[in-house]
Amino acid sequence: MNAEPDQTHAAFRHIVRMEGVQKYFGAVHALRNIDLAIGRNEIVGLIGDNGAGKSTLIKVLTGVIQPSSGRIYVRDQEINLASHSVGHAHALSIETVYQDKSLGEKQPLWRNFFVGRQITNRFGFINIREEKRIAQDILLNTIGFRGVGIGVDSNVKQLSGGERQGIAIGRAMHFNSDLIILDEPTVALAVKEVRKVLDFVRRIKASGRACIYIEHNLAHVHEVADRLLVLDRGEIVADVAPKDMTVPELTEFLINLQHNR
Ligand SMILES: Nc1ncnc2c1ncn2[C@@H]1O[C@H](COP(=O)(O)OP(=O)(O)OP(=O)(O)O)[C@@H](O)[C@H]1O
Ligand SMILES: [Mg+2]
Repeated sequence: MNAEPDQTHAAFRHIVRMEGVQKYFGAVHALRNIDLAIGRNEIVGLIGDNGAGKSTLIKVLTGVIQPSSGRIYVRDQEINLASHSVGHAHALSIETVYQDKSLGEKQPLWRNFFVGRQITNRFGFINIREEKRIAQDILLNTIGFRGVGIGVDSNVKQLSGGERQGIAIGRAMHFNSDLIILDEPTVALAVKEVRKVLDFVRRIKASGRACIYIEHNLAHVHEVADRLLVLDRGEIVADVAPKDMTVPELTEFLINLQHNR
C-alpha cells in the first residue's frame, strides 16, 4: 500500500526549513531567531529543558500558532504564514502524533485509522470492509504488529502504551506523511514498551520519511536520532550528531545550560 512517501514530492531537499523564526507571547520571547533544516529522511531529536520552546516550535511549524516573524519552507517552497493552518500542514503531509490522547479508547482499532478520513461509497456509506482491509495492512506491513491476539477488531483499551503509540505512528505513516512529529512518545511507558516505540521510530526512518522527535529522556532520543537539536530559552544552542556526544556528555551539557542562567 502506501508504504513509500509520495513520489510526486521526490525532488525536494529539506522537508522543512525555518529561517529567522521568532515567537513572542507578550513579553516572553519563546523562539529566538530559529534557523533549522530537516532533511527528507532525517530523524531529528529536539531536546531542552521545560519551557525551552520545543512545543512552540512544533506549533508554529504545524500551523497551530503563527510566528511573530520569520520564514518557513516546506519541501524547499516558502509557505505563506498568514494562511498556514493545521489543515494546511496536514495537506503538506506533516503529521503530529500526540501522547496517547489521539486514539479513541472505546473504538475498535480499525476505526481509529479512519477518524476524519472515512472511506465512503458513492452513497456516502462508510466502506467498513475496505477500511478493515487497509487497517490490517497497516498493522502487519507498515508497523509490523505481531502482538499476540491483536487484530483490527481489538479494542484500543486492550493495547499497551507502546502499542498505542505504534498505532498512531502507523496511521501517520500510512496516510502519506513525509514528516512525522512525535511529542514525547515514551513518557510513562515501561522499558519494554519504550523499546517498541523506538522500533517504530526506526521504521519511520526505514520508510524514507523524516521525523522530529521531542524527548526529555536523552538516552531514548540519542539512540534513534541522526541529529540532536538542543533548545535553550527559545534558542538553538547545539546541533550535534549522537556519535559526537555521549548521553552523559549531553546530560552534562544540559545541566550546564541551567547553571548558566
Ligand atoms: N500560549 C502561550 N501563551 C503564553 N506563553 C506561552 C504560551 N505557550 C508557551 N508559552 C511560553 O513559551 C515558552 C516556551 O514554552 P514551550 O511550551 O514551547 O516549552 P517546551 O520546551 O515545550 O517545554 P516542556 O518541555 O515543558 O513541554 C515558555 O516560557 C512558556 O511559558
Ligand atoms: Mg512542550
